[in-house]
Amino acid sequence: MQISVKEAIEILNADGVVALPTETVYGLAARIDSDAAISKIFSIKQRPADHPLIVHIAEFEDVYHYATEVPDYLLNLIAAFWPGPLTIILKKQASISPLITANQTTVAIRMPNHPLTLAVIKMLGKPLVAPSANRFCQTSPTCIEHVETSLGEDVAVVDGGTCSVGIESTIIDATCQDKIYLLRPGSITAEQITEATNVECIVGTKANVRFSGSHKKHYAPTKPITLISNIDDLKELPFSYVMLLSDPTEVINHHVVSMPKNPEEYAAMLYHHWHNAAKLPVQSIIIERPPSNNEWQGINDRIMKAAYKDS
Ligand code: TXA
Ligand code: MG
Repeated sequence: MQISVKEAIEILNADGVVALPTETVYGLAARIDSDAAISKIFSIKQRPADHPLIVHIAEFEDVYHYATEVPDYLLNLIAAFWPGPLTIILKKQASISPLITANQTTVAIRMPNHPLTLAVIKMLGKPLVAPSANRFCQTSPTCIEHVETSLGEDVAVVDGGTCSVGIESTIIDATCQDKIYLLRPGSITAEQITEATNVECIVGTKANVRFSGSHKKHYAPTKPITLISNIDDLKELPFSYVMLLSDPTEVINHHVVSMPKNPEEYAAMLYHHWHNAAKLPVQSIIIERPPSNNEWQGINDRIMKAAYKDS
């Protein structure tokens, strides 16, 4: 159900939830101070309570209301990447509801870069907490149609067009003064973070941290994913949705889409194609393996987790 910004504010003020656009993916939002609405997020998404939510702010100073013991390099991160697709994990202030942080001592904060959602947060005068607006472990939505397919037509959603980044934010643990841990790769790379802060940023976690995608299978579309390294392998496979990076020299008997060769443009199309494949009579999604260098890390992470097969 499409709603206006004004209606979104009314619903949020009445302890309801609304789906809102961000530059990465659509989020399912509740007011930071409404435990009733936050509980609705977990039940609508069918998400286990031990997966904490990201706090979305619109004013830089708010980070100090919700976090404590911030590292010296925080201001460099904010100057370089906010508003934008970087989520920063910091020690939390005691006032934050344990529903948001899954009882952990840290809180994840980001300033999204979408004018409509920044306007909603500013008009409310309070941050919003929001996970991606999809059922647990499924593919995140990058347009309003995806939100409605995943969560049903009854969910209130503000249409902010197609998300420009297309994959979820990079998440870093910034609770140490001398090291930054990259927990979830995204469009902002570890190298860019080190460049902005002069602090070493390493991919991986400290022990005992829960984070998104720590499940082996995540982001999964409704059709199974197969990865190929060579176009010739397609001949053996049943009719599928094929996402190619190289240019084929002969006709291929599949539903073939040609993917952008630049990682930013590729990321912006990735979930669109997974959602699109769900609607077509194809057996599976076949993806030509992207390059393995750093700029492709967020994309490769999503593809590997979505392709993971329990066995
Ligand atoms: O781009 C994004 O980050 C989108 C948009 C809507 O902002 N949001 C998003 O939220 O991807 P979600 O909930 O689907 O994934 C965020 C992940 C959670 O799964 C959670 O594990 C992790 O962030 N997270 C949140 N708070 C955390 C904390 N205190 N410590 C470690 N991980 C945390
Ligand atoms: Mg998610």
